[in-house]
Amino acid sequence: MTPLLEIRNVSCRFGALLAVNKVSLQVAKGELLGLMGPNGAGKSTLFNLIAGVLPPTAGEIVFDGKSITDCKPYDVARIGIGRTFQIPKPYRQLSIVENVMLTAFLREKTTAGARRIAEETLADVGLADYMGTPINALTVGLLKRLEVARALAMRPKLVLFDEIMAGLTPTEVGSMTKFVAGLPARGITVVWVEHVLYAIMKTATRMVVLNRGEVIAEGAPAMLARAPAVVKAYLGEEMDFA
Ligand SMILES: Nc1ncnc2c1ncn2[C@@H]1O[C@H](COP(=O)(O)OP(=O)(O)OP(=O)(O)O)[C@@H](O)[C@H]1O
Ligand SMILES: [Mg+2]
Repeated sequence: MTPLLEIRNVSCRFGALLAVNKVSLQVAKGELLGLMGPNGAGKSTLFNLIAGVLPPTAGEIVFDGKSITDCKPYDVARIGIGRTFQIPKPYRQLSIVENVMLTAFLREKTTAGARRIAEETLADVGLADYMGTPINALTVGLLKRLEVARALAMRPKLVLFDEIMAGLTPTEVGSMTKFVAGLPARGITVVWVEHVLYAIMKTATRMVVLNRGEVIAEGAPAMLARAPAVVKAYLGEEMDFA
């Protein structure tokens, strides 16, 4: 079957640093692909390449059968790729609902329609009770949920989550994990970068491990938790996440 997303030999160079080095990977429709690796491995850079924030130095990115290698962020969002930012970047002068409306406008022209989508999406991520709260009063956990709502309100086919668990309490991690796990059944394919390993290893259907810009391992979470190359580069010791 044709993959929903195909990354072909993609590289990204920052001066002397090859942040992403000939990465190839495929994401099938309906997958929940986990992406892990040490700090500086190139995970967020890879997301920025897919999302059109950065142009690849080499290689090609194909989504839904079309090349998006040269697309800008707005076009990538329009064709169905949503993403969160590792550091949440809400517009602090706007309300929570207005922040989500900005991405809802990619699908819906009317203000009333965009507001409806925004409110539905906020309720979906558990922010129904916070619609009147000023952005500056949100905890890290709530800001992360707002990021997720902004990514989902554009009704993506594929969503890229970049460390949406960082700074969350264990209870918040539990509910967010359940929420993310339910997305493929709703027709949303997920690629998820995460350092909160017990959450991602339990949830991902497949994992890819990046180290120094290169894919060093790929497979089922249980297999990678014991793979010597992954233990050496990232985990430190074998992991038991069952
Ligand atoms: N715009 C940029 N200009 C120069 N170097 C950059 C830029 N963005 C990232 N880098 C460098 O590229 C490398 C990969 O960074 P990246 O943010 O992709 O790592 P990461 O895997 O997301 O790490 P983390 O787990 O800490 O978020 C790092 O060495 C980083 O310093
Ligand atoms: Mg990162």
